[in-house]
Amino acid sequence: MSRQPAVSGRILIVDDDERQRTDMAAMLADCDFDMQVAADGQEALERLAAFNADVIVSDLVMPRMDGFELLRHLKEHGDLTPAIALTAFGSMEKALSVVHDLKAFWFLEKPVEPRAFKTLLDRAIRYKRSLQKNDELKRELSLHGVLGDMVGTSPAMQQIFTQIRQVAPTSAPVLICGESGTGKELVAREIHKCSPRSDGPFVAINAAALPETLIESELFGHEKGAFTGAMERSAGCFEQAHGGTLFLDEIGEMPSSTQPKLLRVLEDLRVRRLGGKHEIAVDARVLAATSQDLATHLREELYYRLSVFQIVVPPLREHKEDIPPIADIMLQNLNKKHGTRVAGVDTEVLDLLQHHDWPGNVRELRNLLERAAIIAGEGLVGLKDLSSPVFGVNPAAYTRPSPAYESPVLLRPGQPLTKIEEAYIKLTLEHVRGNRKLAAEMLGISLRTLQNRIAELREEENAISPGS
Ligand SMILES: Nc1ncnc2c1ncn2[C@@H]1O[C@H](COP(=O)(O)OP(=O)(O)OP(=O)(O)O)[C@@H](O)[C@H]1O
Ligand SMILES: [Mg+2]
Repeated sequence: MSRQPAVSGRILIVDDDERQRTDMAAMLADCDFDMQVAADGQEALERLAAFNADVIVSDLVMPRMDGFELLRHLKEHGDLTPAIALTAFGSMEKALSVVHDLKAFWFLEKPVEPRAFKTLLDRAIRYKRSLQKNDELKRELSLHGVLGDMVGTSPAMQQIFTQIRQVAPTSAPVLICGESGTGKELVAREIHKCSPRSDGPFVAINAAALPETLIESELFGHEKGAFTGAMERSAGCFEQAHGGTLFLDEIGEMPSSTQPKLLRVLEDLRVRRLGGKHEIAVDARVLAATSQDLATHLREELYYRLSVFQIVVPPLREHKEDIPPIADIMLQNLNKKHGTRVAGVDTEVLDLLQHHDWPGNVRELRNLLERAAIIAGEGLVGLKDLSSPVFGVNPAAYTRPSPAYESPVLLRPGQPLTKIEEAYIKLTLEHVRGNRKLAAEMLGISLRTLQNRIAELREEENAISPGS
């Protein structure tokens, strides 16, 4: 079958046995690799000072600095260059310890089988490329594309940033519209933070989360005994937000009987507590949020009063180019929250994120990344770390992974290449809920090739199961 085009890359081979070094170099002679060699860990570190390797292939037992020490040194210095450890035949325990404890990319048993070696190098180089892409992104983002906690380099998000900067210094009310999870509350918080009121309070009240009977007392406050259960005098949100910002979330859910009272407060900048005799002057800047369809539930006068300035936050599917930078910042924050050390997402995951429609918008992305970051723990988030039902993968499957699909575990010398292909094809199909077109795109092969390969696999399965 046709495969993804081979990648070019820089490889450092570390082995004290000169014969091994030349054999490996000869094996890779037909590949587009820039290769350097070193005779032990010490020499490898000296080479790495000037040679920006994509992959390090290292023997374990060597004089001076051995492979274990080299890997430990790289790990301790935060060097994420993937390293492939060469292990003696049969030393499975050592092999697993370099992968698990020293974070080697993978191991290969000697003698090295050329096709498995090349497949593994190819994956390792692609992994390194993803890491580099993440680094570039971080640099780019540090220059522009961030407003407080909001991220976005797309024209749509840049326009939102401009609107926030324009309206923040004024006291005008703002109506923020958008689907659920698009970042409406975040916009409100940024307006507050960029405003001259940033030292004052930011008070949020959600009209959809409060019973109708309580909304008015929450908004305007009440005097002791104003209604059954009003044991103490209480200041409402308007008073609490004095000198700051009041955020009326889900304003479309505001009972229509309350809307005229709210409008009056907005006009007069005075509130009267329930059961109160006097009006109290309040200086709160009002921001309101709603989904666009619920904006029609607002009485006309209130709608016009609130929408002096309107910001429409686009759904994530309309600014998918922001997914990589948003994911990047979110992972940095999630690392802090969970003590993980995730560096980013790999290219396959990125591809999947770009193909998804995101009905739950940025919140859905955040939830997905949070689960994935916890599962991955460190390095790059890969397909195996995605446990979202969105992608048709049952989360339970990840607590008890089927052994055949434990990712590149099958990449071991002695495994026929067809078996590795088979596992990847199945894994990919599983992740895209059987969408062959998408799977073919991800595997870098044509749809026809994928279909032929699936048919071949079915034939093979039938051939080995006599009952069928
Ligand atoms: N542009 C962005 N950059 C970074 N994070 C974002 C961005 N937009 C949204 N988020 C994050 O996505 C999540 C959802 O955002 P938020 O709560 O503001 O959405 P919302 O529109 O108010 O949703 P709902 O309508 O369901 O209340 C939050 O964790 C928020 O920090
Ligand atoms: Mg919200």
